[in-house]
Amino acid sequence: MKNNGISAGNIMLLTFVLGAFFVWIAESFLEFLWFNHALSSFLEILFPLYRPHEMLMRIILVSSLLVSGGIVSHLYGKLALSEKKSRESENDLRITFKSIGDAVVATNADGRITRMNPVAERLTGWSVKDAIGVSLPEIFKIINAQTREGCESPVDKVLRTRKTVGLSNHTVLISRSGEEFQISDSASPIITEDGDIAGVVLVFRDVTEEYSREKELNRLRNYLSNIIDSMPSIIVGVDPHGRVTQWNMSAQEDTGITTNDAIGQNLSDVFPRMVMEMDKVRESVRTRKAQYELRKPRKCEDGLCYEDITIFPLIANGVEGAVIQVDDVTEQFNLEQMMIQTEKMMSVGGLAAGMAHEINNPLAAIAGNTQNIKNRIYKDLRQNTETASECDISLERMRNYLSKRDIPRMLEGIAESCNRAAKIVSNMLRFSRKSDKRFSECDLAKLMDNTIELAANDYDLKKEYDFRKIGIVKEYSDELPSVYCEENEIQQVLLNLLKNGAQAMNEKEYDEGGPCFILRLKRDDDMACIEVEDNGPGIPEDIRNRVFEPFYSTKGVGHGTGLGLSVSYFIIADQHNGIMDVDSVPGSWTRFGVRIPISC
Ligand SMILES: Nc1ncnc2c1ncn2[C@@H]1O[C@H](COP(=O)(O)OP(=O)(O)OP(=O)(O)O)[C@@H](O)[C@H]1O
Ligand SMILES: [Mg+2]
Repeated sequence: MKNNGISAGNIMLLTFVLGAFFVWIAESFLEFLWFNHALSSFLEILFPLYRPHEMLMRIILVSSLLVSGGIVSHLYGKLALSEKKSRESENDLRITFKSIGDAVVATNADGRITRMNPVAERLTGWSVKDAIGVSLPEIFKIINAQTREGCESPVDKVLRTRKTVGLSNHTVLISRSGEEFQISDSASPIITEDGDIAGVVLVFRDVTEEYSREKELNRLRNYLSNIIDSMPSIIVGVDPHGRVTQWNMSAQEDTGITTNDAIGQNLSDVFPRMVMEMDKVRESVRTRKAQYELRKPRKCEDGLCYEDITIFPLIANGVEGAVIQVDDVTEQFNLEQMMIQTEKMMSVGGLAAGMAHEINNPLAAIAGNTQNIKNRIYKDLRQNTETASECDISLERMRNYLSKRDIPRMLEGIAESCNRAAKIVSNMLRFSRKSDKRFSECDLAKLMDNTIELAANDYDLKKEYDFRKIGIVKEYSDELPSVYCEENEIQQVLLNLLKNGAQAMNEKEYDEGGPCFILRLKRDDDMACIEVEDNGPGIPEDIRNRVFEPFYSTKGVGHGTGLGLSVSYFIIADQHNGIMDVDSVPGSWTRFGVRIPISC
């Protein structure tokens, strides 16, 4: 390139040399034609050696021509070289611009386009030819992808701030043809050596694919965390060092610690009751097998709660750790216990009924024979006097002897015990009696009121305590229709519950207030619900499971048979296809619940 520049100067210098040579010859020729007074030869005129001043003049003329030619051709050579250089650099710039994979647009200080590369042409839809001189916002129309509102031109911002600015993540470029491209990148000021802004260069990239990939990724991430959050189980992800990597909504609710606060923390700090499980987590990661701990009891506000804990290893490549899933199965556990209880009671109930049948005959014989003995000794029957005289015995003296030996009291005792046993047997027989019931429509509110009256009379007689001193709050719902049931049997259940409650409350010392029943009647879907709640001493957790068992009683011998609740349970569960349960807070209250279908 340098050579080419010099040769342009050399050519000019040669031209000047030839010019000087031509001027020498031309001057000689003109002198030969018109000023040759001495009739000299052309050669003498061409080289006027005999006229030194003429020769000197010519030499000065030609020399000055050659010197100025030399200067001019040197300058010309330089100019040509620099022009060539700038042409070459422009060419280089154009090729570089063309080769850049990103779109590049340059503007002058007024924000008008001065250059743009083919990628920019494709994305904006403007050809360089059309775009040159046009102000940037006209060819570079950008909006926010989410709000669809126009964005400020980055060039204006750069010119104002003199700093490089980036575009927001959601910028969409609308091309001349209306096509939309998700773009990203930046605009920078072009600062001259003097520190002035000569323009702005905008570099941007079509990120439509990346953007939609990222959007899809975000959507999937949200979807997954939504699934995890919507699960009723507590889900906690941990790495092998016990640091939390995942924390769902249920975990937040259980611990009161937000996901942001929990992630990255030690499991022992944010979920202390899971510390014991860390060995299982390690085991699960090592063996790549799930670990289970079922029905794990723990203390909670309402007493004992039960949890199923499952630990799954994370088996995706490159991910180490485990997921802990905790499910509260207290309700399920209680239901299972209740079913076991029911099974047990049904079989004990069957056994009791069978026994009652068997006991019934000998009992009838004992009772009948006791009555007969009494009749044959104390009744003034003809047969008694005849047989006594046959045996030569005085009835009076025999009666006197028996009295002295306390036999009449013993016979009374036998009769009384027989009565008691008969009552028990008749209760036990209820376990099996099912067929001869008379079901009818029954108004539960009326039935409850009658039973309260019945209970009050019953206890007045015994004088153990005054039922009327017990406060009664009635919460009867108007929505409860009449219920199809065996009225006498349901009354028996209510009476048992009131009796038990009254007896229990009698045992308690009240600091303030006094014994009180809350009696509720309501409707739950197609079931009628009866609740009998007392504010007595409550039933301890370990006893609560046993109160429905036949013959289970905490009352001393002679005070309770332990059949009241078991008979009630059978009446509800077996004869009415209902549910009977109990809830209690020891020291505060006991609530028995009865649910029977409104219609069979
Ligand atoms: N409201 C209550 N409050 C506290 N404990 C109760 C209550 N109701 C029942 N219980 C407990 O349940 C046990 C069983 O009751 P259940 O009615 O079956 O028999 P019982 O009352 O002992 O005997 P019976 O009913 O023959 O008089 C009772 O002994 C008592 O310990
Ligand atoms: Mg009872």
